[in-house]
Amino acid sequence: MVQIVKTIQEVRETVKAWKRAGDQVALVPTMGFLHEGHQSLMNAAKAANARVVVSIFVNPMQFGPTEDLASYPRDLDKDQLLCQQSGVDLIFHPDADEMYSPDFCSFVDMTGLTEGLCGSSRPVHFRGVCTVVSKLFNIVQPDRAYFGQKDAQQLAVIRRMVRDLNIDVQVIGCPIIREQDGLAKSSRNSYLNREERQAALCLHAAIQSGQQLIQNGAKDCQKIITQMSALINQQPLAKIDYISIVDAETLIPVEQITRSVLCAMAVYIGKTRLIDNFIFEIPN
Ligand code: PAF
Repeated sequence: MVQIVKTIQEVRETVKAWKRAGDQVALVPTMGFLHEGHQSLMNAAKAANARVVVSIFVNPMQFGPTEDLASYPRDLDKDQLLCQQSGVDLIFHPDADEMYSPDFCSFVDMTGLTEGLCGSSRPVHFRGVCTVVSKLFNIVQPDRAYFGQKDAQQLAVIRRMVRDLNIDVQVIGCPIIREQDGLAKSSRNSYLNREERQAALCLHAAIQSGQQLIQNGAKDCQKIITQMSALINQQPLAKIDYISIVDAETLIPVEQITRSVLCAMAVYIGKTRLIDNFIFEIPN
């Protein structure tokens, strides 16, 4: 079974030995409770790198005080099995005090990109993500790191952090993986009861409607957002946090569709906050 290590030193020693042998190393950072979305990242990592490290760490720093840190789902045995199936070489599963000493006081922060979309309702989130991901990059020193396109803002933020801070890692984004009925795979789907699970389909319905409108030539973002919102508002269990259409790279809101855009949304289904998005590419 794939080995689980808990200390930074063990990861460093293992990765150093791999690199000495000439192996390329991939990192798939996760918070565990792995599903087919994570598996697609692990498989992509294994296909392009001799060695794959998966980190499993529910990072306290990226949760706000009223968010779901304590209830975030965990299942290390199943995670280990899925990692094994994907040919992962090492799981890094540190305790919080291995990652954060009691007097920890250094952060990686970003302006601009982190302020809109999820950043508006999750003000500390991206500081926590940037800090932990840069720590993981420093610990593992991977050649490539794999992230899901479902967290589109996170992916854009990490790409920018890597560029701005000259981190020597290639960031690879992988497509959203969906359930058969269209719901984007997420560890947080496990919070949904049966009625909520059904209600959650409104996110994908809105995504499809937005895609269709743009494909049919709609250009006015406000009109597109209004139509997508109307679909979601038909569902009594749903409450929109935001639906935005932004430049796919800068995340600055766009009024007219004249270039490639990211259309992203966060919607509460009951108490569970779900996100989804699509990118509409216009070739330059
Ligand atoms: O996407 C996630 O699961 C987390 O935000 C990440 C990248 C593992 C950082 O904790």
